[in-house]
Amino acid sequence: MSATPRTHVPQQLDGPLPMTLPRLAERKRLGEPIVMVTAYDYPSAQVAEEAGVDIVLVGDTGAMTVLGYPTTAPVSLDEMLMLAAAVRRGLQTPLLIGDLPFGSYEASDELAIASAQRFVKEAGCDAVKLERGGTSATRARAIVEAGIPVMGHVGLTPQTATALGGYRAQGRTAARALEVAEDALVLEQAGCFALVFEAIPAAVCEAVMPRVHVPVIGIGAGPATDGQVLVFHDLLGIYERQPRFAKRYAELKLEMVAAVAEYAAEVRARKFPGPEHTYSIDADELEQFLAGFGS
Ligand code: KIV
Repeated sequence: MSATPRTHVPQQLDGPLPMTLPRLAERKRLGEPIVMVTAYDYPSAQVAEEAGVDIVLVGDTGAMTVLGYPTTAPVSLDEMLMLAAAVRRGLQTPLLIGDLPFGSYEASDELAIASAQRFVKEAGCDAVKLERGGTSATRARAIVEAGIPVMGHVGLTPQTATALGGYRAQGRTAARALEVAEDALVLEQAGCFALVFEAIPAAVCEAVMPRVHVPVIGIGAGPATDGQVLVFHDLLGIYERQPRFAKRYAELKLEMVAAVAEYAAEVRARKFPGPEHTYSIDADELEQFLAGFGS
């Protein structure tokens, strides 16, 4: 474990108030929708900050969107901490949540607390997130009792997608819907300050919502939740995948490829750099240099 803090939380003297857990609970009480987005580095954090979102999640989707793994399972705690620390440096106002990666919390309460503490101490996160009910609820309780806020995540839980039969909506049978609802209630009882509902039928979500007293953030769970979350790269069209629940608000990958291709074409055609990208030297200095250099 590194003893060196990898982050610096910028001081904010004016501007919007930082998001806190009481402010989040108040949003739910007032019925004001909560906006959450993922981020994985300094520039995406700055985008989230300037766009005025409420919560930023350093999701383990970063395994796929920025680290190129085929699933979220392989990403290590150290890799997640590096991403989270970079996000922290670009963020002042939204609540910052670090996603506990697969294998960093399941085995014991001690492991779960130690991993959560690293997100707070080394990356400057305000809270952590973990997936599933069952033993994860026990881990959530242990982390909460250690003083770190926890967000739960039910429905489609990508870390255990294989056991769920793949990346598919959950709760489409009565029996599975009851399990998802039970997971949500157990996580709330364990002390989670908020929950993510991923890929569950809107009607199931609507039925469960009145029984949940903490903010619920949906992704593919319909409009009844207290807020919505999207993955940064899905929202902006940077990553190839297009899950049913993701709406694209831009096609940035197309724009990025076009820009880099134009740059390449200009270099090859000797059109870049132009005079405006070039430094000058005083004529006398140049003459002296050329004489000294033997030209
Ligand atoms: O890892 C992630 O990005 C997530 C969101 C989809 C909620 O868990």
